[in-house]
Amino acid sequence: MNNYQIRMNELYELVKHHAELYYDNDSPEISDSEYDSLVRELSQLEHEHPELARKDFLTHKVGGSASELFAKVNHKVPMLSLDNVFTPDELNNFFTRINQTQNFTCEMKIDGLAVSLIYQDGKFIQGATRGNGTTGEDVTQNLLAVESVPKFLKNAPEGRVEVRGEVLMTTERFNALNKLRDERGENPFANPRNAAAGTLRQTDQKIIAERGLDIFLYYLVEAQSFGVKTQSQALSWLSEHGLPVQEAWKLCANLDDVNNFIAQWYDERFKLNYVTDGVVIKLDDLTQWPEIGSTSHAPRWAVAYKYPPEEALTRIKNIIISVGRTGVLTPVALLEPVRLAGTQVQRAGLHNADEISRKDIRIGDVVRVRKAAEIIPEVIEVDKSSRTGNEKVFTMPSYCPACNSEIVRLPDEAAFRCPNRASCPAQLIESLRYFASRNGMNIKGLGKSLAAKLIESGKVKSLSDIYKLTPEDWTSLEKIKDKSAENIMSELESSKQRPFVNLLTALGIKDVGKNAAELIVDHFGNVDAIMNASESELSQIEGVGPVIAKSIHEFFRNESNLALIQDFRAMGFSMGSEIITTGDKLQGKIFVFTGTLDSMTRDEAGVKVKALGGRVSNSVSAKTSYLVAGDKTGSKLVKAEKLGVKILSEQEFLELVN
Ligand code: IVH
Repeated sequence: MNNYQIRMNELYELVKHHAELYYDNDSPEISDSEYDSLVRELSQLEHEHPELARKDFLTHKVGGSASELFAKVNHKVPMLSLDNVFTPDELNNFFTRINQTQNFTCEMKIDGLAVSLIYQDGKFIQGATRGNGTTGEDVTQNLLAVESVPKFLKNAPEGRVEVRGEVLMTTERFNALNKLRDERGENPFANPRNAAAGTLRQTDQKIIAERGLDIFLYYLVEAQSFGVKTQSQALSWLSEHGLPVQEAWKLCANLDDVNNFIAQWYDERFKLNYVTDGVVIKLDDLTQWPEIGSTSHAPRWAVAYKYPPEEALTRIKNIIISVGRTGVLTPVALLEPVRLAGTQVQRAGLHNADEISRKDIRIGDVVRVRKAAEIIPEVIEVDKSSRTGNEKVFTMPSYCPACNSEIVRLPDEAAFRCPNRASCPAQLIESLRYFASRNGMNIKGLGKSLAAKLIESGKVKSLSDIYKLTPEDWTSLEKIKDKSAENIMSELESSKQRPFVNLLTALGIKDVGKNAAELIVDHFGNVDAIMNASESELSQIEGVGPVIAKSIHEFFRNESNLALIQDFRAMGFSMGSEIITTGDKLQGKIFVFTGTLDSMTRDEAGVKVKALGGRVSNSVSAKTSYLVAGDKTGSKLVKAEKLGVKILSEQEFLELVN
C-alpha cells in the first residue's frame, strides 16, 4: 500500500468515527474546524486519487452508511425535489409564470424523508428512498415495519401503483425516544428528521417498529392512468385506497387563498404532531404537468414556500461552561425563557470563545435567537441598541469549573480544554455515559442523569468503580428505588459478558470508535497484544493509520489507564479472544456472515473460523472468500452474488469447519 492509500484509509475511519460522534451521539471529540479539515483533506485526496476513493463512502453526506447496507433501486419516474421560495415576491413570480387564474393545492411541507412505495395488485411489494433522485435504496423490509404503511390497499387497484410521500417521526415519539436515549446513555437526536433518518437506516426491523415511524403520502405517480385529473383528486384517491394523507391541505382558487393558507399555518403548524417547514403549492390540474415540465431537479408546476426560521428576542441571564467528555469547554447562554418554534427555550449554544468575541456577546445583552432544524437554538446577533452599559464581557475561565484544574489552549485549536482526564468529575460523567452507551458496554438505565449522581456521590472515581458498588450504595443514591437498583445491577452483571471489542470502544480512547476497535481487535486478538504493539505495527492495519495508532499507543502508556485495564481484567472481563488454534485449513480466507444461523450465533461461527486460521469481516467485498447465508438475508447476499463470491449455506459451512 502506498502512503496516499494508508492516509486515505485512515481518514475514512476518522471521518466516520467523528461524524458518528457528532451526528448520532452529539458528543464530538474534536472541534468543528478540526473535523472540517479532515473532510477537506479526504476530499482533496479523493480528487487527486479517484482510483483509491471508496465510491460508497459519502464524504460530503456524512453520517450515512445506508448506501453500503441496502440494495439499489432505479426509480421508473425520477424522484424530483422542489424549488424553494422565501418571500411573497418570489411566490408571485411563480404565479405569474403559471397563470394565476387557476386552482392550486396548498399542502404543508413535511420535514421527513421522501420515499416511494410500489403496490402490485394492491399488495405492497417495494419501498425505496429517494437517493439521488434516479437511484435510491431498497428499504422494503424496513417499511414493512412501519405500522402506517398499508401492506394492502383498500379497493385493490389492478396492476402496478406507485405512490410517494414522506416518512417521519411524530414529535411525541421523538421526545419519548430522546428521553429513552438519555436513560440509556446515548445522546439525543438533534431533530425528528434526523431521528427518522437514523431509524429508517436501521438494519434491525424490531428497532424500527419499536421507535415507531409514520408516513404521509402526497403524490400518485402517473395519476392520469387511474382517471385522476387533479392533485386534490389524487389526495382523495390516496385516502380512499387506505394510504395516509395529512389533513393540513386545501384547494385554493387564487393567490389570495394561497397567501391566507400560508399565513394561517404560520402559527398553526406548531399544533401539528409532526414537523413542517413550509407550504408546497401545486397546480391542481395535473393534466397540464407534463406540458409545463420540470428542470433537472424540480417540477415547474410546484413550488415550496419556506417559512423563515423562527426567531425571537430575549436576554442572556448568564453564560455558563459545560465540560465535555474529552475536556473541551463549551460556553452556553442561559436565556430568559422565550417561546420559539412551539417550545419554550432557555439555553443557546455559543460554540466557543472566538464566536462570543466575534459576535461581541455579553452577559445581560438582548439577543436575537434562532431555532432552525436543530433543537438547540443559536444566538444570531446582539441588539446593541438595547445596551444599558451594565452588560458584562464574558471571559473563558482559567480554571475548570468542575475540578479547578488549570485550563489549556493548544495553539492550533479553537477549543479550551481541561487537561484532567483522569479525575475531572465533569469529564467522568461524560465518560461514564459513553462507557455505558450502546456501542460500548450497552448498560441500559445508565444515562447522563444517573452518571452524574454516581460521580457526584463520590462513590465512583473511575469507570471500573461502578462494578464495585453494593446494593446499599445504589439505593442510597437519591431517588433510586430498590427495584431500579436491582435492574441496574443485573444490567451491569450481564455487561461483564460483553466481547472485548465493546470494552475497547467503551474506554473512549480518542479517535477510536467501534469500527477502529473492531479492526484492532480483529488484528491483534487481545489486549496484551494491543498493549505491546508499537505505533508502527498498529498503523499498519488497514483503516488504522498513524493518528489512531498514536492515540492507542499513548493510551496504553498511561499509568492510570493501565490500572483501569488491570481492574477490568481482575473482575473477569473478556480481554480478547483466547482462541485456541486448531488448524490452518482456513488460512487467508475471509468470511462474512449474513442472516440468522440455526445452530449457533454468528459470534460462535466466527470463533470456529478464527480457530482454523480464517478471518471474519463485516462487509462483502471482492476480497471476501465466502458469504455464509442464514435465514432472512439482505443486501449482503445481493452484493456477494454480484461479485461472484462463493455463498455457503449453514450446512455447507458446518461441513467445512467440522
Ligand atoms: S411534492 C415532484 N409535497 O419536500 C414533487 N413534497 O424539498 C414531489 N415534501 O422531495 C414533491 N412535503 O420530500 C411534495 N406535501 C409535499 C411535501 C413534499 C414534503 C418534500 C419531498 C420533496 C422535498 C423537496
